[in-house]
Amino acid sequence: MRRGFGPSRRAEEIPPFLAMDILARARRLEEQGRSIIHLEVGDPDFPSPPDVVEAGRRALAEGRTHYTEALGIPRLREAIARRYFTLHGVEVSPERIVVGSGSSPLLTMLALAILDPGDEVLVPDPGYSCYPNYVRAAGGVPVQVDAGEAFGYRLSVEALERAVTNRTKALIVNSPANPTGVVYHPDEVRQLTAWAAERGLWLISDEIYHGLSDRPVEPTALRFDPDAIVVDGFSKRFAMTGWRLGWCVVPEELVRPLMKLQQNLMVCAPAAAQEAGIVALEQGEGHTRAMAEELRRRRRTLLAGLERLGWRVAGRPEGAFYVLADVRSVATDSRRFAIQLLDHAGVALTPGIDFGPRAEGHLRFSYAAPVAAIEEAIDRIHAFLQGAQAAAGGAGETAGRTRVAPK
Ligand SMILES: Cc1ncc(COP(=O)(O)O)c(C=O)c1O
Repeated sequence: MRRGFGPSRRAEEIPPFLAMDILARARRLEEQGRSIIHLEVGDPDFPSPPDVVEAGRRALAEGRTHYTEALGIPRLREAIARRYFTLHGVEVSPERIVVGSGSSPLLTMLALAILDPGDEVLVPDPGYSCYPNYVRAAGGVPVQVDAGEAFGYRLSVEALERAVTNRTKALIVNSPANPTGVVYHPDEVRQLTAWAAERGLWLISDEIYHGLSDRPVEPTALRFDPDAIVVDGFSKRFAMTGWRLGWCVVPEELVRPLMKLQQNLMVCAPAAAQEAGIVALEQGEGHTRAMAEELRRRRRTLLAGLERLGWRVAGRPEGAFYVLADVRSVATDSRRFAIQLLDHAGVALTPGIDFGPRAEGHLRFSYAAPVAAIEEAIDRIHAFLQGAQAAAGGAGETAGRTRVAPK
């Protein structure tokens, strides 16, 4: 029987994650036999390290197929704590570490743990598409702070001062950053951390792309404030997106609230993934370094290609595996343009608008794809632009109303 009411207002308010919408459209085209180059999703195309795969297999064979403690198996939490000491010289008690099924559910649970309805959270714009939605899902209000061109694509105390109100509860910082690949200097992390602490705000530092940048070690916010909330995970640096495993480090007062939320909402992270995670932490560094090296090569290829297209790059990409390209010389509506490029050139990219209003007129390239695929994507886009320009008779307008600049 049909009910008299539809989905909740909260569900209606949450916009789609456009990168995933583009991926779904791309998959449909592939099913029709089209060749598509995938530069839209933030999923490393590398396999998980073989020792990690073996550890997962062993865990399943040995019967680790049950629930675990809600906060995660103690050996994994201890291994994570050890990592903070070895890499950063920071002492973190394993008691303050919460393991979850990826950083996404942990960010959702954190929002539920710290926000009351109407509380505001400062998020970077451009910034990771899902940040505003974790906040909305918890009844909070995301406030997108200018981290655009005028600020070198970084959060700054100046912009934060303009956005903070007496309803502000938290600030989310992300470096290396999605969607720009910008990496914050340690002094910037220190400044942002101090600013949040001075105002009594929660600082959530999303460090999921640590290990994948031009820096030998990116500074964790915990170095500057032991009460910072750090969110991290295995998805990116160990190429383990599908295992669904992440962690966060929280002040003691948040452990019990997160434990209760996990018990009720998620129960625990997959047992075999947790076992494999221990091996990743103990033996995966070499894999991360090799991946970072290969990603640098791909970034060089992509930047050269974008130069050839005449597309400016937002900020200075030094990490993660993203470049945000300014396409305003040819298109202003990034969603429409991304769909055109997918349908007509067979290149899947994420519209800038996914990352906030200040990334409109841009496209995000994820270079988690081999060099040859990146080169081919640039060739296809180049051919598409030339075709569109020719179709418009050089008048600067295509049938799709995408402006095409003379090259
Ligand atoms: C900045 C950022 N944070 C968090 C996540 C979520 O990662 P996961 O849930 O796989 O840990 C992503 C994924 O793309 C991301 O880009």
